[in-house]
Amino acid sequence: MRRPFVAGNWKMNKTVDQASVLVQELLSGLQQFTSVERVLCPPFTSLMLLSAQLKDTGIGLGAQNMHWEGSGAFTGEIAPAMVREFCNYVILGHSERRTYFGETDETVNKKLKAALAVGLTPIVCIGETLTQYEAGETQQVVVRQVLQGFKEIESAAASQIVVAYEPVWAIGTGKAATGEGANMVHKEYIRPALAQLFGSAIAQNIRILYGGSVTGANASEFFGQSDIDGALVGGASLKPDFITIVESAAR
Ligand code: 13P
Repeated sequence: MRRPFVAGNWKMNKTVDQASVLVQELLSGLQQFTSVERVLCPPFTSLMLLSAQLKDTGIGLGAQNMHWEGSGAFTGEIAPAMVREFCNYVILGHSERRTYFGETDETVNKKLKAALAVGLTPIVCIGETLTQYEAGETQQVVVRQVLQGFKEIESAAASQIVVAYEPVWAIGTGKAATGEGANMVHKEYIRPALAQLFGSAIAQNIRILYGGSVTGANASEFFGQSDIDGALVGGASLKPDFITIVESAAR
């Protein structure tokens, strides 16, 4: 079966010193729940220190973005092999990257191929905006994001990918989707689109996380659902509440 997966996306928060303190606060709590794949995704500047701090703890480390090219004249960008020096995971195509930094299904697809090529586990974010949600376009949007974002990926590599369904209207708003609503999107829209690309056996193995205002208080509503395999947590991952979320995934 699919191992539960909980990742904390720290977004643009914490200096190196602050990141180190937060890891110290969370570490022993997180280490108890070994049945859950647990990952922290701090800003790039903290990856080197945290990779040392998390060594042999069972807690994984991820970046929040990367470029698809291997090296060269791309000022301000970080290459896949640079991420791989410190991390086993990378978040790709987060809605904030799509909204503020012009990422598209096409660039997400290039990054996904590059991440797999260096042995990173990609956490690929998809999800509809509020306008699309209100227009009843959720299915159309998430299916397109899967079919375009995951195109030309070998079936053998696909089961390594983690998908995060993050409805944009639920991110940072305190208005989470309902467990049933998110599960319906996972089960009826996203997994069938994955099956269309990779076949149903592989699609059944791919973890699909929910993200958007997940807290210790509402996490169990999501983890009780058949097709919600974990969470990508923003705000609550910066607090001890993150341990409560992981505990809830372990049940
Ligand atoms: P919040 O948990 O703060 O809503 O953020 C979700 C998110 O964007 C995780 O990637």
